[in-house]
Amino acid sequence: MSTAFDVACFGELLWDFYEAESKADGKGTDKEPIARQFRRELGGASANVAVTLARLGLKVAAIGGVGDDKLGAALDAALTAAGVDTAHVVRLGAPTGITFVTNSAVGEASFIPYRGADLRLGDGDVTAAMAKAAFALVSSTSMLASTRAATEKFLAGVDKAKGTIVVDLNVRAHLWSDADEMRSAAKALVARAALVKGSERDLNALAGKRGMTWLDENAKHATWLLTRGENGAAAVGPHGQATAPTKRVRCIDRSGGGDAFIAGVLAVLVKAGARPGSPEWKDGKLWTRALEVGHLLGAKAVAASGATTGLAALDDVKSRLSAPKKG
Ligand SMILES: Nc1ncnc2c1ncn2[C@@H]1O[C@H](COP(=O)(O)OP(=O)(O)OP(=O)(O)O)[C@@H](O)[C@H]1O
Ligand SMILES: [Mg+2]
Repeated sequence: MSTAFDVACFGELLWDFYEAESKADGKGTDKEPIARQFRRELGGASANVAVTLARLGLKVAAIGGVGDDKLGAALDAALTAAGVDTAHVVRLGAPTGITFVTNSAVGEASFIPYRGADLRLGDGDVTAAMAKAAFALVSSTSMLASTRAATEKFLAGVDKAKGTIVVDLNVRAHLWSDADEMRSAAKALVARAALVKGSERDLNALAGKRGMTWLDENAKHATWLLTRGENGAAAVGPHGQATAPTKRVRCIDRSGGGDAFIAGVLAVLVKAGARPGSPEWKDGKLWTRALEVGHLLGAKAVAASGATTGLAALDDVKSRLSAPKKG
């Protein structure tokens, strides 16, 4: 099979705006109020994963909608500068999506979304060339009504091109007006996937305490990646179960941790030539290394403000993508 890309990252391409207070003590006075400034950082799960994979040296495409505006052009330029192929970033007649992000003292992120072109890709915008990838990554947000037809068409194309569908649940309940619709969309998505990643929060939002049962009922034949923030991660599948503890770092900004993690797992799978049904896919040691590389990247991501800011120097991670040589 000839595929253009190692990984096609389909979905949200955004700018995240981080608010900063220019006075160090953050208090301000009547005479000297706190000046508020905003810093722009690349964001959106699909953009974050694409940038990380490109920095690791993989052939990666970002696929999604941006506005036909300055922010859209800047987003395209930032992705290109990182080495991401943007031939399938589509300019749409809606503003580029943005999100305002604030962090608590322990790095917990709060989001105020102003979504636009990132959720407007239509099925008419999707082409067969977009689906020519060994792995295709999507998240549940791409199943929102405004862009679901495009997602379905993309996934049908991936199946046709014999690509491997990877779902990062990335449940964002605040974007859905109907929780039942959100749950059934997530079910429809994981039913098509060979690899499903869910955080503890994702599974909680979908199934409360019955997360594992939910996966068993809806993604029985997939390999599962389960992350629990600072409390480790597991991979469950035909290889059995592999686990790896999270790397200890000071968490500054939790956003992008999961995206960095899945990028690490995908990079290891690509380098090993692991595909569902292959001997590599059933190799527990490979999954352990995939989790470890995921955590290395996850820790870098959360240790800096901005989803991909901490993922600039990756030589230490690159050297771990392949198994150490024997002898
Ligand atoms: N405090 C932390 N310290 C180090 N690494 C972390 C920390 N929090 C998250 N990570 C990294 O990010 C990965 C994913 O974290 P988490 O389980 O919170 O999922 P998530 O996808 O970021 O969450 P969600 O999409 O629900 O917001 C972890 O497995 C780990 O590699
Ligand atoms: Mg996530």
